[in-house]
Amino acid sequence: MPVITNIEDLRRIYEKRTPRMFYDYAESGSWSEQTFRENISDFRHIRLKQRVAVDMSGRSTASTMIGQDVSMPVALAPVGLTGMQSADGEIKAARAAEAFGVPFTLSTMSICSIEDVAEHTTKPFWFQVYTLKDDDFMRRLIERARAAQCSAIVVTVDLQVLGQRHKDLKNGLSAPPKLTPGSIANMMTKIPWGLEMLGTKRRFFGNIVGHAKGVTDPSSLSTWTAEAFDISLDWARIAQLKDWWGGKLIVKGIMDPEDARRAADIGADAIIVSNHGGRQLDGAVSSIRMLPAIMDAVGDKVEVHLDSGIRCGQDVLKALALGARGTYIGRAFTYGLGAMGQAGVTRALEIIHKELDITMALCGETDVRNLGPQNLYVPQGFGDPTILL
Ligand SMILES: Cc1cc2nc3c(=O)[nH]c(=O)nc-3n(C[C@H](O)[C@H](O)[C@H](O)COP(=O)(O)O)c2cc1C
Repeated sequence: MPVITNIEDLRRIYEKRTPRMFYDYAESGSWSEQTFRENISDFRHIRLKQRVAVDMSGRSTASTMIGQDVSMPVALAPVGLTGMQSADGEIKAARAAEAFGVPFTLSTMSICSIEDVAEHTTKPFWFQVYTLKDDDFMRRLIERARAAQCSAIVVTVDLQVLGQRHKDLKNGLSAPPKLTPGSIANMMTKIPWGLEMLGTKRRFFGNIVGHAKGVTDPSSLSTWTAEAFDISLDWARIAQLKDWWGGKLIVKGIMDPEDARRAADIGADAIIVSNHGGRQLDGAVSSIRMLPAIMDAVGDKVEVHLDSGIRCGQDVLKALALGARGTYIGRAFTYGLGAMGQAGVTRALEIIHKELDITMALCGETDVRNLGPQNLYVPQGFGDPTILL
């Protein structure tokens, strides 16, 4: 086993171990992938202030997200099809998150169902909902999350229509997958992955098959997904979901100060500054560059979280120092899962935690909650996307 020292090491192992169609599904953005790339590269424009001769003992990365204790403010983002990256992947990731003391968010489009994840974990997790047209299904989904004792729902608002990822079309990755001869040949070379998948019954969308009207088996899924998403989604609909749920609600996919204000107005407990990891609007600004303007607009009204592009603890530190209360990782934990199952997710969290802790110390801070603008050099115009960096 190679020595794993960073998230990129996990990505390389993941790439070797996982069928190409699932690797490509995660490791791509929409159209030209400009936003996918800039989410990562824009973090590099921010520099850290080194401070010395500060007592660095007794450091803490503990904080809270929506009032819940976290061992570090880094949650696992909702990632669809996680159970195809590694057999029973959602259960493995949820268990790793639980042991580490960070929130796990289960996607609507997961392979393991809400009930299944609840049965195999001991602490409440968060549930991500897409806003779908079918009211009956939506209400039941929310009831199922309640019955499973989820402690928050995360409503994703940036996917009424789907951004195109070229590789998914070429690889036949649809719901259900239409396997191409190339995909089948590639899959047959991934023996450990294949043996694990043969050993589980969980291979279809667990929250949908058998629950949505007319979807009794995977073959009826494509008709359902083509029509399911609510194209007419508006703020009134999001407020209605909040009423139905009645608990903590996080709005995911905010990239504009005005939208952030609307989310705060409907009483969201938190918003996630996110462009879906560059998978939706290609050409959108990176989420880290949008953070300052959104903090200015709503930083005193609602908790602000951020995802998209986080690959190391230094990225987490930068987002926190710019005012975010919490962050999420999508691909970073998926690489770990695909590389080494549950142990790989734990490894990804350990890597990010260590990077965050050591970097914080070298910046002269001992408590993650005290990070702020004093720790950064931010180039002029960084928060103004009309200025070229
Ligand atoms: C493979 C993959 C599947 C995803 N599926 C979902 C999903 O089902 N629901 C959702 O709200 N976001 C989904 N996302 C977006 C993530 O929640 C998150 O916003 C994104 O991964 C953050 O960017 P990062 O991967 O650079 O950390 C997905 C992302 C990836 C990479």
